[in-house]
Amino acid sequence: MATIAIIGSGVVGQATGRGLAEWGHDIVFCDRDAAVLATLRERGERAFAPDELERVHTDLTFVSVSTPTVDGHIHIDALRAAARTAARRLALGEYPVIVMRSTAPPGTTANITIPLLEEESGLTFGRDFSVCYNPEFLREACALEDFLKPWLVVIGAEDERGLAALRALYAAALPDVEVVVTDFTTAEMIKYASNLLNATKISFTNELWLACRRLGIDGNEVMAAAAQSAEASWNPAYGIKGGYPYGGACLPKDTVAFYAFARSLGLSMELLRSVIDVNERVAELVQWESPLARQRGIAPVRTGGATAPARA
Ligand SMILES: NC(=O)c1ccc[n+]([C@@H]2O[C@H](COP(=O)([O-])OP(=O)(O)OC[C@H]3O[C@@H](n4cnc5c(N)ncnc54)[C@H](O)[C@@H]3O)[C@@H](O)[C@H]2O)c1
Repeated sequence: MATIAIIGSGVVGQATGRGLAEWGHDIVFCDRDAAVLATLRERGERAFAPDELERVHTDLTFVSVSTPTVDGHIHIDALRAAARTAARRLALGEYPVIVMRSTAPPGTTANITIPLLEEESGLTFGRDFSVCYNPEFLREACALEDFLKPWLVVIGAEDERGLAALRALYAAALPDVEVVVTDFTTAEMIKYASNLLNATKISFTNELWLACRRLGIDGNEVMAAAAQSAEASWNPAYGIKGGYPYGGACLPKDTVAFYAFARSLGLSMELLRSVIDVNERVAELVQWESPLARQRGIAPVRTGGATAPARA
């Protein structure tokens, strides 16, 4: 059983803390919001403000503070403040492990969090303390359930002791869960890729739903069937390799043709247009970057001879 601090006790922090408590760990919550602290204390939890936490020793510290998007840009001020709180507690532990959980741009842990922790504490990452990046994929509506039964655990780690500590924590409670171990920046990118994949799928459906409305048919009926017929939907291995040919007899031909048809109905189809543009760019890039193709004088692949109409 470990003693674990949770800095940032909102949706993710509380699900993490309550889940870890169910696994038998001793949890200390921390938040800068007095109302959050009051609610936690009413529930009988140990909860501290950041300056109070500085004196409380724990084996691991999870950081799940807010990283809001303001005016189109991510704000990581709270993450920097939480890293400072964590740094001031580093000297308390024998070999502290900090586990970053907040969503942040790829490169944040390596280029911002670790230098900040070292600067504030005077200690050295990998020698005196560890850091892991362990993104959360839970859904807000069933946060605790998703924490307790994750689809996948991703651990970004660049030193053995931190990785061993976090691996052991998950292995004890979830012996069968798949764990992906990678570097910090890849783990941060996996979190974004996962959200962007969801966002893109929803947007694609919305774009086709608008087209169906124009045709006077039910978009939900169309998508329910397409979700079963399209390999992209039923085969998890389909379409997940970058630089892979977007070819075959049907994809470029039908995409270009449907785009032109939909435009003739007055639909803008921005996403479909981007599908054509992105794949034309990748096809050229992949060919020109392939030394074998260059050596053999292979020309860039055109998308099946199907040429997209110019943008209006
Ligand atoms: N909500 C989700 O479904 C979800 C899922 C996966 C990942 N995430 C990511 O996890 C992070 C947390 O999300 P959330 O939904 O739990 O946010 P939230 O707003 O519910 O909770 C964040 C908490 O952090 C506290 N906080 C901010 N700065 C602090 C500081 N310096 N010290 C102590 N406490 C501080 C806030 O008061 C708040 O209670 C974000 O990066 C988010 O993008 C969210």
